[in-house]
Amino acid sequence: MFLANRQSDYRLALDPRDADTLSVKAAEEVERFLRHRENHAVTPLRALPALARELGVGAIYIKDEGLRLGLGSFKALGGSYAVIRLVLDAASERLGRAVDVATLQTPDVRAIAADMTFACATDGNHGRSVAQGAKLVGARAVVFVHSGVSQERVAAIASFGAEMVRVAGSYDDSVEEAARVADKNGWSIVSDTSWPGYERIPALVMQGYTVMVREALRQLSELPTHVFVQAGVGGVAAAIAGHLALALADQRPRFVVVEPARAACVYESARAGRPIKIEEGEPTVMAMLECYEPSLIAWRVLSRVADGFMTVEEEDAVAAMKQLARPIGADPAIIAGESGGVGLAGLTRALADHEASEALGLSPQSRIFLINTEGATDPLRYAELVA
Ligand SMILES: Cc1ncc(COP(=O)(O)O)c(C=O)c1O
Repeated sequence: MFLANRQSDYRLALDPRDADTLSVKAAEEVERFLRHRENHAVTPLRALPALARELGVGAIYIKDEGLRLGLGSFKALGGSYAVIRLVLDAASERLGRAVDVATLQTPDVRAIAADMTFACATDGNHGRSVAQGAKLVGARAVVFVHSGVSQERVAAIASFGAEMVRVAGSYDDSVEEAARVADKNGWSIVSDTSWPGYERIPALVMQGYTVMVREALRQLSELPTHVFVQAGVGGVAAAIAGHLALALADQRPRFVVVEPARAACVYESARAGRPIKIEEGEPTVMAMLECYEPSLIAWRVLSRVADGFMTVEEEDAVAAMKQLARPIGADPAIIAGESGGVGLAGLTRALADHEASEALGLSPQSRIFLINTEGATDPLRYAELVA
């Protein structure tokens, strides 16, 4: 299913708060923070010329986030960055002077971090990032997971020393429970989704994601014409779309948000013309995208700068994983987890849909940019699906 965004307009400005969050200046500061991270490396951008020929487009580029900061997904950029920023803010306030990331490991800053607790809810990847950030600064992390999160994913988060709490119900239930317990205990809640009155921290998380665009713009030899990014609550799609709009202005590519048909909260919000919570349905194989309510900030950005919203089916996601794992011609193989190849699934569907292709202006000259948002973050599930 495809829905063109009738509102989207190259002159439509972002809300000033979001323009600040996703600005080039802010993204450069995130890159500076990253240079202080031991396991930081720019993730590769792969070209898939054989697949582009087969699908009838000019070029396909995919940024492979499977190796990001040793965590297996782009989420490594958001939660841990927010944790570091919050520790630096607290230290600046307590010490009465500006405290920079360069001094994060000094005894007085570590002593302040040791008193802090960071809580979050997660489908898996965001929790890993918050837990890694807390470990790095020497703080405590408490991570809430819903009943559908696999034991492998729970173990991966716990390996960073986080305390784990299981919550009955869906991702959205775990978000509510984490917020409630954090509020009661005076912990900082580091959520990747935002709601009325809670914007600053999810904005920092999204700011962390903009690094992918900074890197990609240096890696690409020519600007893409189209970008397809998968969405759970919409945070990563909004960070990419918003930053592209700010960095490239009227040269920005067409931007399409892709979701599982079973959990299409951004798509349905676009249809309704306002952010809405949708009914919980059957679980989706695209586990990280199983969200039923968009992030408020993400919606604010996407409703202005996304050009289209679309859904893909379960089998499309699995087909994309297999396509990336076993490429045609001399294209490189890419390990994409269940939610990693969903942008490619969206592109494939859009190209097979005359109306969507027309609306998006897809042609044999189109240059497509995609993000493999995760590697095999649940190796057992990956092996099962790609076998
Ligand atoms: C691998 C992967 N891809 C995409 C997403 C979607 O991100 P968002 O919820 O910000 O839309 C997530 C979220 O957890 C994820 O882990």
